[in-house]
Amino acid sequence: MDANTNLFAWCQSFSIGDEFVDAQHKHLFSILFRLHRSMDAGDSQELIEGTLNELIDYTQRHFRDEEALMERVGYPGLAEHKAQHDTLIEKVEDMMEEFMEGEPVLTIEVLIFLKEWLTTHIAQEDARIGAFIA
Ligand SMILES: [Fe+2]
Ligand SMILES: [Fe+2]
Repeated sequence: MDANTNLFAWCQSFSIGDEFVDAQHKHLFSILFRLHRSMDAGDSQELIEGTLNELIDYTQRHFRDEEALMERVGYPGLAEHKAQHDTLIEKVEDMMEEFMEGEPVLTIEVLIFLKEWLTTHIAQEDARIGAFIA
């Protein structure tokens, strides 16, 4: 295993203490990992496009579920949290558009940006939901 292999690995310190949310975060990391492997392997545009779509769909689903959870428990920071989700979705959709137009936007830097965003968001925002529930 080289360093890159572990770049998108889930880490126990990412846990927010909610099994359902943690499982979805793990899945997001696993899609990023597959995307990275696919890029490294020089997979076709179609194949990468499929995984990118999966990432977008799953991210949207996760955000919806997380927002529903915040609503259910009466989490006070829902609006601000949702705004962060919306901004990320917009960014990823823009990226997808450029990718479809043949722009070489999908680089390791983009994957690292997504991973950093996710890690920071989980640690600073999602963790607060976990703490609120507890
Ligand atoms: Fe979130
Ligand atoms: Fe999340």
